[in-house]
Amino acid sequence: MVLLQSLDALTQWQASMGWHEKVTGFVPTMGALHEGHASLIRLAKSQSELVVVSILVNPTQFNDAQDFETYPRTLEGDMDKAQAAGADAVFAPSAEALYGGKPQATAVHWGPLTHAYEGARRPGHFDGVVAVVDLLFQAVHPTLAVFGEKDLQQVGVIEKLAKDRHPGLKVVVAPLVREPSGLAMSSRNARLSTQGGSSALALHQALLAVQRGAMDGDVDRAVRAQREALRANPAVTLEYLDVLDALTFVPWSGGGQEARPYVVVAAEVEGVRLIDNMPLKA
Ligand code: PAJ
Repeated sequence: MVLLQSLDALTQWQASMGWHEKVTGFVPTMGALHEGHASLIRLAKSQSELVVVSILVNPTQFNDAQDFETYPRTLEGDMDKAQAAGADAVFAPSAEALYGGKPQATAVHWGPLTHAYEGARRPGHFDGVVAVVDLLFQAVHPTLAVFGEKDLQQVGVIEKLAKDRHPGLKVVVAPLVREPSGLAMSSRNARLSTQGGSSALALHQALLAVQRGAMDGDVDRAVRAQREALRANPAVTLEYLDVLDALTFVPWSGGGQEARPYVVVAAEVEGVRLIDNMPLKA
């Protein structure tokens, strides 16, 4: 596996490998790789001949300077994990090189998809995601790109980006990977203490309870009860717990053959912002 740290190095490597004649897979990441990322790389490899993993802590998608500064940066370990999962190259340019100057993002307005939930809580976040993924798609030019359902709203945003600006590209969605405890894997989990990790399990339990409530036919009651439980939990600061249609990110309260209902949650534990989700129809 090779490490490519500039656009020139990427272009040269791609030419030497016959990239544009092959079925190629791409997995964009911000590093601090864990088993969730590894599952995406394995999925990409199973569907393509060559796989590039990008690693870039993208400044334009952080609405909190401290979150950006303290985001874990672990390139050495990431290289080992990417290689073990089947990557052929890690593309890790500087933000300035990728953006061709000072990193900046144009505002994107795609309705609730970019402005509800994560978009409302993290103003400008999806502007930055769209900016960096658009540039990465242009640089890497893959046949397919894999994204995790962990970031459910991001999947919707990327599907729209691909449809509008990269029509030949296939977006592959990978299932959410959890710790054996049930905690959704996240690079930010590294910032939780052991106690914080246990407290964070309340989010997974709330999602399971809403999923059960939906099967029992009273999803609204289950949502209200779980909101109350999380608000009463001193270790958790709840931002939202809601049931929505993953296609539109509009709240869902039953009906619609096409709808993809999910229960979603965002909360802080020990000052670490966590998100999680679960489908309501298996
Ligand atoms: P990052 O948070 O590093 O995630 C990279 C990819 O891994 C995303 O598609 C994300 O959904 C997926 N992922 C993270 N945790 C996962 C888990 N527990 N199970 C399954 N997949 C998981 O998402 C980003 O980076 C950035 O926004 C990016 C798309 C790279 C743009 O900067």
